[in-house]
Amino acid sequence: MSLTSAAARRDLAFHLHPSTNLRQVQTDGPLVITRGDGVYVYDDEGRRYLEGMSGLWCASLGFSERRLADAAYRQMCELPFYHSFGGKVPAISTELAERLIGISPAGMTRVFFANSGSEANDTAIKLAWYVNNALGRPQKKKIISRQRAYHGVTIASGSLTGLAFAHTDFDLPIARILHTDCPYPYRGAHAGESEENYAARLANSLEQLILREDPDTVAAFFAEPVMGAGGVIVPPATYFERVQAILKKHDILFVVDEVICGFGRTGNMFGSQTFDLRPDIITAAKALSAGYQPISATLVSGEVYETLLAQSDKLGMFGHGYTYSSHPVPAAVALETLKIYAERDVVATVRRVGPRLQEGIRSYADHALVGEARGLGLIGAVELVRNKATKESFDPKAGVGAFLVRRAQQHGVILRNMPTDIVAFCPPLIVSESQIDEILAGFDKALGDTEAMVRERGLA
Ligand SMILES: Cc1ncc(COP(=O)(O)O)c(C=O)c1O
Repeated sequence: MSLTSAAARRDLAFHLHPSTNLRQVQTDGPLVITRGDGVYVYDDEGRRYLEGMSGLWCASLGFSERRLADAAYRQMCELPFYHSFGGKVPAISTELAERLIGISPAGMTRVFFANSGSEANDTAIKLAWYVNNALGRPQKKKIISRQRAYHGVTIASGSLTGLAFAHTDFDLPIARILHTDCPYPYRGAHAGESEENYAARLANSLEQLILREDPDTVAAFFAEPVMGAGGVIVPPATYFERVQAILKKHDILFVVDEVICGFGRTGNMFGSQTFDLRPDIITAAKALSAGYQPISATLVSGEVYETLLAQSDKLGMFGHGYTYSSHPVPAAVALETLKIYAERDVVATVRRVGPRLQEGIRSYADHALVGEARGLGLIGAVELVRNKATKESFDPKAGVGAFLVRRAQQHGVILRNMPTDIVAFCPPLIVSESQIDEILAGFDKALGDTEAMVRERGLA
């Protein structure tokens, strides 16, 4: 966080930062992180921060899980690389596949590995297209995602993403990718409208879109159980039940993006279980390896797999895969991660400590700057507003949420600001109740600072 450190100056000279305001990092300097310990990380000047975001929603086991480092080292010594093309496979990747299918929601029978959530979603899009070609339905290719969704930034997954920053000047979205409403009770529901009525309205709007486009041209619908980077948005009651009925009616594949929600985050092993989802395809990444190694998974139902199998008979192969698909080192780390989740009963832990975070966040619901405090399990957000009664946001250019997050950082807690002025919380799943209190204390001070700043600058 300072331009005085040599590491920060070197970084600015050579590094093109991803998902960053490139001008601001030049003036503020990067936060150079040098080591981690439990839920804490340390910068190059020795300052300690409680990582309230698990890095990028991924470091579920914190930043010093020795067993994961040992698993990587052992695998590097034994078999540092092998691949899965043409019928070969590193033994460890088989073990991971079996274990992952073993804990995944009912109906998933095979898993394809890649390196990132974006690639997992790209794979799911390709599968939706491929399956419909295999079934003799070459017109059934459109994909529906949702406004505010975040599914990645590659050309296809970035098109699924429903946030302007991922599209503007990148010439996205590509053709055949459509966006339906975001299920956002705080901003989308009409005054006095019940959750169920709002959900029915959203489902109807989705069905109207499908009918307008022609159901015979729609291949798949993508959804995160809880939308993460779009603002930690929890859907209204009955939303997914209604959506799933429509997808079934029109024979549309349901792809559930579990990249954030997977592996305990929402209080079940998968968000699909929290919301009673019956996906055809699941994508997962991040906490699959606790963020320690890049790896993602695209899980497919028996029915999808049977179609791929038949098409392989016809074409001679399944022509999709990456050099690092099923790479043994991330596979070893992911396998160890899943063992740790089972041994430490990660789901029970989230259920035990989650309420502390949720109650803590919701205790700010009455604050003048807080429009809504929401979340579930160990993921949550506080949405800041200029006018609580009208829900009017601050001018995005005022940078109110960014200010709060900078202040929280100065108070030793890392949070994340998302448009517009939505402050996210997503601590490692190993966080203790007292560490949750520490996160909330940092937030509290930062909110106080923000209130003073808003008053001083006459923003509210
Ligand atoms: C729900 C969701 N899907 C997909 C992705 C993309 O993953 P990656 O950044 O590994 O490509 C993310 C990343 O934050 C995500 O939150």
